[in-house]
Amino acid sequence: MYAAFRSIGAYVPEKVLTNADFEKMVDTTDDWITKRTGIKERHIAADNETTSDMGVKAAEKAIARSGLEKSDIDMVICATISPDYFCMPSTATIIATKLGLPKVTAFDISAACTGFVYVVAIAKAFIESGMKKNVLVVGAEKLSAITDYSDRTTCILFGDGAGAAVITATEDKEEAILDIHTGSDGSYADLLMTPNGGSGSAHDSLDQEAAGCYMKMKGNETFKVAVRTLTSDVVEILKENNLDADAITHFVPHQANYRIIKAVGDALKMRDEQVVMTVEKYGNTSGASIPMAINDIYEAGELKTGELMLLDAFGGGLTWGSALVPFAGPVKK
Ligand code: ACO
Repeated sequence: MYAAFRSIGAYVPEKVLTNADFEKMVDTTDDWITKRTGIKERHIAADNETTSDMGVKAAEKAIARSGLEKSDIDMVICATISPDYFCMPSTATIIATKLGLPKVTAFDISAACTGFVYVVAIAKAFIESGMKKNVLVVGAEKLSAITDYSDRTTCILFGDGAGAAVITATEDKEEAILDIHTGSDGSYADLLMTPNGGSGSAHDSLDQEAAGCYMKMKGNETFKVAVRTLTSDVVEILKENNLDADAITHFVPHQANYRIIKAVGDALKMRDEQVVMTVEKYGNTSGASIPMAINDIYEAGELKTGELMLLDAFGGGLTWGSALVPFAGPVKK
Protein backbone atom coordinates (compact mmCIF):
# COMPACT_ATOMS: atom_id res chain seq x y z
CA MET A 1 0.00 0.00 0.00
CA TYR A 2 1.22 3.50 -0.86
CA ALA A 3 0.27 6.96 0.44
CA ALA A 4 -1.18 9.55 -1.96
CA PHE A 5 -1.48 13.31 -1.41
CA ARG A 6 -5.14 13.54 -2.43
CA SER A 7 -6.30 17.09 -1.71
CA ILE A 8 -5.47 20.48 -0.25
CA GLY A 9 -7.35 23.29 1.50
CA ALA A 10 -6.48 26.46 3.40
CA TYR A 11 -7.97 29.25 5.43
CA VAL A 12 -6.66 32.79 5.86
CA PRO A 13 -8.18 35.09 8.52
CA GLU A 14 -9.74 38.32 7.38
CA LYS A 15 -7.75 40.95 9.29
CA VAL A 16 -4.58 42.19 7.55
CA LEU A 17 -1.56 43.86 9.17
CA THR A 18 0.50 45.75 6.60
CA ASN A 19 4.06 47.00 6.89
CA ALA A 20 2.58 50.50 7.22
CA ASP A 21 0.70 49.29 10.33
CA PHE A 22 4.01 48.11 11.85
CA GLU A 23 5.58 51.52 11.18
CA LYS A 24 3.09 52.84 13.75
CA MET A 25 3.77 50.04 16.27
CA VAL A 26 7.60 49.66 16.36
CA ASP A 27 10.74 51.34 15.05
CA THR A 28 10.69 49.92 11.53
CA THR A 29 9.95 50.84 7.92
CA ASP A 30 8.16 49.26 4.98
CA ASP A 31 11.46 49.54 3.11
CA TRP A 32 13.41 47.55 5.76
CA ILE A 33 10.78 44.81 6.02
CA THR A 34 10.40 44.49 2.24
CA LYS A 35 14.14 44.41 1.52
CA ARG A 36 15.09 42.06 4.37
CA THR A 37 12.13 39.66 4.23
CA GLY A 38 9.95 40.21 1.14
CA ILE A 39 6.90 40.44 3.42
CA LYS A 40 4.30 43.13 2.62
CA GLU A 41 1.40 41.96 4.76
CA ARG A 42 0.24 39.12 7.00
CA HIS A 43 -3.21 37.99 8.20
CA ILE A 44 -4.12 38.00 11.89
CA ALA A 45 -6.85 35.89 13.50
CA ALA A 46 -9.70 37.55 15.35
CA ASP A 47 -9.40 37.62 19.16
CA ASN A 48 -11.99 34.85 19.54
CA GLU A 49 -10.67 32.79 16.61
CA THR A 50 -8.52 29.84 17.65
CA THR A 51 -5.96 27.70 15.90
CA SER A 52 -8.50 24.85 15.75
CA ASP A 53 -11.15 27.16 14.23
CA MET A 54 -8.77 27.95 11.39
CA GLY A 55 -7.69 24.31 11.06
CA VAL A 56 -11.33 23.23 10.76
CA LYS A 57 -12.00 25.68 7.92
CA ALA A 58 -8.93 24.47 5.99
CA ALA A 59 -9.82 20.83 6.70
CA GLU A 60 -13.40 21.20 5.47
CA LYS A 61 -12.08 22.31 2.08
CA ALA A 62 -9.48 19.55 1.93
CA ILE A 63 -12.00 16.84 2.81
CA ALA A 64 -14.58 18.14 0.30
CA ARG A 65 -11.92 18.21 -2.44
CA SER A 66 -10.71 14.69 -1.61
CA GLY A 67 -14.05 13.17 -2.61
CA LEU A 68 -14.21 11.36 0.74
CA GLU A 69 -16.89 11.61 3.40
CA LYS A 70 -15.91 12.91 6.83
CA SER A 71 -16.72 9.45 8.18
CA ASP A 72 -13.92 8.00 6.00
CA ILE A 73 -11.19 9.91 7.90
CA ASP A 74 -9.48 7.63 10.41
CA MET A 75 -6.73 9.86 11.83
CA VAL A 76 -6.06 13.59 12.36
CA ILE A 77 -2.60 15.02 12.97
CA CYS A 78 -2.07 18.73 13.56
CA ALA A 79 1.28 20.49 13.25
CA THR A 80 1.28 23.58 15.42
CA ILE A 81 3.39 25.60 17.84
CA SER A 82 0.43 27.77 18.80
CA PRO A 83 -2.15 25.21 19.96
CA ASP A 84 -5.52 26.19 21.41
CA TYR A 85 -4.19 25.02 24.78
CA PHE A 86 -0.58 24.40 25.75
CA CYS A 87 -0.14 20.79 26.92
CA MET A 88 -3.71 19.50 26.55
CA PRO A 89 -6.09 18.84 24.97
CA SER A 90 -4.38 18.59 21.61
CA THR A 91 -5.60 20.87 18.84
CA ALA A 92 -6.09 17.80 16.62
CA THR A 93 -8.71 16.32 18.97
CA ILE A 94 -10.58 19.64 18.99
CA ILE A 95 -10.44 19.84 15.18
CA ALA A 96 -11.72 16.26 14.85
CA THR A 97 -14.65 16.97 17.17
CA LYS A 98 -15.55 20.31 15.57
CA LEU A 99 -15.54 18.57 12.18
CA GLY A 100 -17.89 15.90 13.54
CA LEU A 101 -15.49 13.08 12.69
CA PRO A 102 -15.90 9.65 14.23
CA LYS A 103 -13.79 8.93 17.32
CA VAL A 104 -10.51 8.92 15.41
CA THR A 105 -6.87 8.80 16.47
CA ALA A 106 -5.83 12.45 16.88
CA PHE A 107 -2.67 14.14 18.10
CA ASP A 108 -0.45 17.20 17.61
CA ILE A 109 3.20 17.36 16.72
CA SER A 110 5.62 20.17 17.51
CA ALA A 111 8.26 20.74 14.85
CA ALA A 112 7.77 24.48 14.25
CA CYS A 113 7.99 25.45 10.59
CA THR A 114 8.90 21.88 9.60
CA GLY A 115 5.65 20.62 11.16
CA PHE A 116 3.77 20.02 7.92
CA VAL A 117 6.57 17.88 6.43
CA TYR A 118 6.63 15.89 9.67
CA VAL A 119 2.85 15.24 9.65
CA VAL A 120 2.92 14.13 6.02
CA ALA A 121 5.76 11.73 6.94
CA ILE A 122 3.77 10.32 9.87
CA ALA A 123 0.63 9.92 7.73
CA LYS A 124 2.68 8.11 5.06
CA ALA A 125 4.13 5.71 7.63
CA PHE A 126 0.73 4.91 9.18
CA ILE A 127 -0.79 4.27 5.73
CA GLU A 128 2.10 2.19 4.38
CA SER A 129 2.04 0.04 7.53
CA GLY A 130 -1.66 -0.63 6.94
CA MET A 131 -2.73 0.95 10.24
CA LYS A 132 -4.71 3.83 8.71
CA LYS A 133 -6.33 4.57 5.34
CA ASN A 134 -7.40 8.22 5.16
CA VAL A 135 -5.41 10.70 7.22
CA LEU A 136 -6.26 14.37 7.62
CA VAL A 137 -3.09 16.41 8.17
CA VAL A 138 -3.37 20.00 9.31
CA GLY A 139 -0.86 22.82 9.75
CA ALA A 140 -2.52 25.59 11.74
CA GLU A 141 -1.06 28.55 13.58
CA LYS A 142 -2.24 31.53 15.56
CA LEU A 143 1.29 32.89 15.88
CA SER A 144 -0.11 36.28 16.86
CA ALA A 145 -0.86 34.68 20.25
CA ILE A 146 2.85 33.98 20.87
CA THR A 147 4.32 37.06 19.17
CA ASP A 148 5.72 39.97 21.16
CA TYR A 149 4.41 43.03 19.32
CA SER A 150 7.00 45.25 21.00
CA ASP A 151 9.93 43.26 19.54
CA ARG A 152 10.62 44.57 16.03
CA THR A 153 13.03 41.75 15.24
CA THR A 154 10.26 39.11 15.32
CA CYS A 155 6.82 40.75 15.21
CA ILE A 156 7.05 41.87 11.60
CA LEU A 157 7.70 38.30 10.45
CA PHE A 158 4.74 36.22 11.60
CA GLY A 159 1.13 35.71 10.51
CA ASP A 160 -1.83 33.41 11.19
CA GLY A 161 -3.56 30.84 9.00
CA ALA A 162 -4.12 27.16 8.33
CA GLY A 163 -3.69 24.56 5.63
CA ALA A 164 -4.83 20.95 5.45
CA ALA A 165 -4.46 17.93 3.21
CA VAL A 166 -5.97 14.47 2.97
CA ILE A 167 -3.49 11.62 2.51
CA THR A 168 -5.06 8.35 1.41
CA ALA A 169 -4.04 4.74 0.82
CA THR A 170 -3.56 3.76 -2.81
CA GLU A 171 -2.33 0.72 -4.72
CA ASP A 172 -1.28 2.92 -7.65
CA LYS A 173 2.49 3.49 -7.42
CA GLU A 174 2.24 6.48 -9.79
CA GLU A 175 0.31 8.36 -7.09
CA ALA A 176 2.68 7.48 -4.25
CA ILE A 177 4.55 10.03 -2.14
CA LEU A 178 8.09 9.15 -3.24
CA ASP A 179 10.24 9.97 -0.24
CA ILE A 180 10.44 12.14 2.88
CA HIS A 181 13.53 13.15 4.85
CA THR A 182 13.22 14.62 8.36
CA GLY A 183 15.86 15.63 10.88
CA SER A 184 16.62 17.76 13.91
CA ASP A 185 19.48 19.16 15.98
CA GLY A 186 18.60 20.33 19.50
CA SER A 187 22.04 21.85 20.00
CA TYR A 188 20.67 24.86 18.09
CA ALA A 189 17.58 25.09 20.35
CA ASP A 190 18.42 28.58 21.56
CA LEU A 191 18.31 30.09 18.07
CA LEU A 192 14.54 30.05 18.04
CA MET A 193 12.43 29.32 21.10
CA THR A 194 9.62 30.27 23.45
CA PRO A 195 11.80 30.34 26.59
CA ASN A 196 9.07 30.47 29.22
CA GLY A 197 6.01 28.55 30.28
CA GLY A 198 7.38 25.01 30.19
CA SER A 199 9.11 22.67 32.64
CA GLY A 200 12.44 24.12 31.48
CA SER A 201 11.67 27.50 33.01
CA ALA A 202 11.76 28.44 36.69
CA HIS A 203 8.38 28.60 38.41
CA ASP A 204 8.76 32.28 39.21
CA SER A 205 9.23 33.02 35.52
CA LEU A 206 5.82 31.63 34.65
CA ASP A 207 4.44 35.12 34.41
CA GLN A 208 2.53 34.87 31.16
CA GLU A 209 1.97 38.59 30.92
CA ALA A 210 5.56 39.70 31.44
CA ALA A 211 7.42 36.98 29.60
CA GLY A 212 4.69 34.74 28.29
CA CYS A 213 5.47 32.16 25.68
CA TYR A 214 6.62 34.73 23.19
CA MET A 215 8.96 33.65 20.43
CA LYS A 216 12.57 34.80 20.61
CA MET A 217 14.82 34.38 17.59
CA LYS A 218 18.46 34.97 16.73
CA GLY A 219 17.40 35.85 13.20
CA ASN A 220 20.74 36.33 11.52
CA GLU A 221 22.29 33.09 12.82
CA THR A 222 19.06 31.22 12.00
CA PHE A 223 19.16 32.67 8.48
CA LYS A 224 22.57 31.16 7.74
CA VAL A 225 21.71 27.70 9.10
CA ALA A 226 18.39 27.85 7.20
CA VAL A 227 19.98 28.46 3.80
CA ARG A 228 22.62 25.77 4.38
CA THR A 229 20.22 23.14 5.69
CA LEU A 230 17.38 23.75 3.20
CA THR A 231 19.83 23.44 0.31
CA SER A 232 21.71 20.34 1.52
CA ASP A 233 18.46 18.60 2.39
CA VAL A 234 17.12 19.01 -1.14
CA VAL A 235 20.40 18.02 -2.79
CA GLU A 236 20.34 14.81 -0.74
CA ILE A 237 16.70 13.81 -1.38
CA LEU A 238 17.02 14.49 -5.13
CA LYS A 239 20.26 12.48 -5.33
CA GLU A 240 18.84 9.53 -3.41
CA ASN A 241 15.86 9.44 -5.77
CA ASN A 242 17.95 9.90 -8.95
CA LEU A 243 16.13 13.11 -9.84
CA ASP A 244 17.40 16.50 -10.94
CA ALA A 245 15.83 19.90 -10.34
CA ASP A 246 14.06 19.78 -13.72
CA ALA A 247 11.89 16.88 -12.51
CA ILE A 248 10.25 19.20 -9.99
CA THR A 249 7.22 21.17 -11.19
CA HIS A 250 6.62 23.04 -7.94
CA PHE A 251 9.33 23.71 -5.37
CA VAL A 252 7.37 24.61 -2.20
CA PRO A 253 9.75 25.84 0.51
CA HIS A 254 8.69 27.04 3.95
CA GLN A 255 7.80 30.71 3.56
CA ALA A 256 10.00 32.53 6.09
CA ASN A 257 11.94 35.02 4.05
CA TYR A 258 12.17 35.92 0.35
CA ARG A 259 15.97 36.04 0.56
CA ILE A 260 16.21 32.53 2.03
CA ILE A 261 13.91 31.11 -0.65
CA LYS A 262 15.81 32.93 -3.43
CA ALA A 263 19.21 31.78 -2.13
CA VAL A 264 18.07 28.15 -1.87
CA GLY A 265 16.28 28.24 -5.26
CA ASP A 266 19.39 29.69 -6.94
CA ALA A 267 21.71 27.16 -5.27
CA LEU A 268 19.48 24.36 -6.56
CA LYS A 269 19.29 25.95 -10.03
CA MET A 270 15.49 26.16 -9.85
CA ARG A 271 13.84 28.42 -12.43
CA ASP A 272 11.66 31.21 -10.96
CA GLU A 273 8.48 29.59 -12.29
CA GLN A 274 9.26 26.42 -10.30
CA VAL A 275 9.53 28.26 -6.99
CA VAL A 276 6.30 28.91 -5.07
CA MET A 277 6.48 32.22 -3.20
CA THR A 278 3.68 33.46 -0.93
CA VAL A 279 5.67 35.12 1.86
CA GLU A 280 4.74 38.58 0.52
CA LYS A 281 1.02 37.97 1.30
CA TYR A 282 1.07 35.86 4.44
CA GLY A 283 4.43 36.37 6.20
CA ASN A 284 5.77 33.36 8.09
CA THR A 285 2.90 31.11 9.25
CA SER A 286 5.21 28.33 10.53
CA GLY A 287 3.53 24.89 10.25
CA ALA A 288 0.76 26.33 8.07
CA SER A 289 3.01 27.94 5.48
CA ILE A 290 3.62 24.99 3.14
CA PRO A 291 -0.02 23.79 2.87
CA MET A 292 -1.18 27.43 2.47
CA ALA A 293 1.33 27.82 -0.38
CA ILE A 294 0.20 24.55 -2.03
CA ASN A 295 -3.41 25.73 -1.73
CA ASP A 296 -2.50 28.98 -3.47
CA ILE A 297 -1.19 27.20 -6.57
CA TYR A 298 -4.13 24.77 -6.45
CA GLU A 299 -6.70 27.59 -6.34
CA ALA A 300 -4.86 29.42 -9.13
CA GLY A 301 -5.31 26.30 -11.29
CA GLU A 302 -1.54 25.79 -11.46
CA LEU A 303 -1.36 22.41 -9.71
CA LYS A 304 -2.12 19.50 -12.04
CA THR A 305 -2.63 15.82 -11.29
CA GLY A 306 0.68 13.94 -11.32
CA GLU A 307 2.88 17.03 -11.06
CA LEU A 308 5.77 16.57 -8.66
CA MET A 309 6.07 18.93 -5.69
CA LEU A 310 9.22 19.23 -3.62
CA LEU A 311 8.46 20.43 -0.09
CA ASP A 312 11.37 21.85 1.91
CA ALA A 313 11.14 23.18 5.46
CA PHE A 314 13.27 24.42 8.30
CA GLY A 315 12.33 25.73 11.74
CA GLY A 316 12.71 25.89 15.50
CA GLY A 317 14.19 22.88 17.20
CA LEU A 318 16.09 23.09 14.98
CA THR A 319 14.14 20.83 12.66
CA TRP A 320 14.17 20.29 8.92
CA GLY A 321 12.55 18.11 6.32
CA SER A 322 11.95 17.64 2.61
CA ALA A 323 9.42 15.58 0.70
CA LEU A 324 8.88 14.48 -2.91
CA VAL A 325 5.12 14.55 -3.34
CA PRO A 326 3.17 14.01 -6.57
CA PHE A 327 -0.23 15.71 -6.49
CA ALA A 328 -2.80 12.92 -6.66
CA GLY A 329 -5.95 14.99 -6.47
CA PRO A 330 -8.40 16.14 -9.05
CA VAL A 331 -7.46 19.38 -10.75
CA LYS A 332 -9.41 22.49 -9.75
CA LYS A 333 -12.15 23.12 -12.32
N1 ACO B 1 13.07 47.13 11.35
C1 ACO B 1 14.20 47.84 11.25
N2 ACO B 1 15.42 47.37 11.68
C2 ACO B 1 15.43 46.12 12.21
C3 ACO B 1 14.27 45.34 12.35
C4 ACO B 1 13.05 45.89 11.89
N3 ACO B 1 11.87 45.21 11.96
N4 ACO B 1 14.61 44.15 12.91
C5 ACO B 1 15.94 44.19 13.12
N5 ACO B 1 16.43 45.39 12.70
C6 ACO B 1 17.82 45.84 12.75
C7 ACO B 1 18.67 45.09 13.75
O1 ACO B 1 18.51 45.63 15.03
C8 ACO B 1 20.06 45.28 13.18
O2 ACO B 1 20.49 46.57 13.54
P1 ACO B 1 22.06 46.84 13.89
O3 ACO B 1 22.80 46.53 12.63
O4 ACO B 1 22.07 48.30 14.26
O5 ACO B 1 22.40 45.91 15.02
C9 ACO B 1 19.83 45.27 11.66
O6 ACO B 1 18.43 45.56 11.47
C10 ACO B 1 20.18 43.96 10.99
O7 ACO B 1 19.59 42.89 11.75
P2 ACO B 1 19.77 41.38 11.32
O8 ACO B 1 19.11 40.52 12.33
O9 ACO B 1 21.23 41.12 11.02
O10 ACO B 1 18.94 41.36 9.93
P3 ACO B 1 18.82 40.22 8.88
O11 ACO B 1 19.23 40.71 7.56
O12 ACO B 1 19.44 38.93 9.37
O13 ACO B 1 17.23 40.00 8.81
C11 ACO B 1 15.58 38.41 9.63
C12 ACO B 1 16.52 39.59 9.97
C13 ACO B 1 14.55 38.92 8.62
C14 ACO B 1 14.89 37.92 10.89
C15 ACO B 1 16.40 37.26 8.98
O14 ACO B 1 17.56 37.04 9.74
C16 ACO B 1 15.64 35.95 8.87
O15 ACO B 1 14.74 35.82 8.08
N6 ACO B 1 16.07 34.89 9.61
C17 ACO B 1 15.60 33.52 9.46
C18 ACO B 1 14.21 33.29 9.93
C19 ACO B 1 13.85 31.82 9.82
O16 ACO B 1 14.00 31.22 8.77
N7 ACO B 1 13.39 31.21 10.89
C20 ACO B 1 13.09 29.80 10.87
C21 ACO B 1 11.68 29.52 10.69
S1 ACO B 1 10.61 30.33 11.85
C22 ACO B 1 9.95 29.12 12.95
O17 ACO B 1 10.40 28.00 13.02
C23 ACO B 1 8.80 29.54 13.82
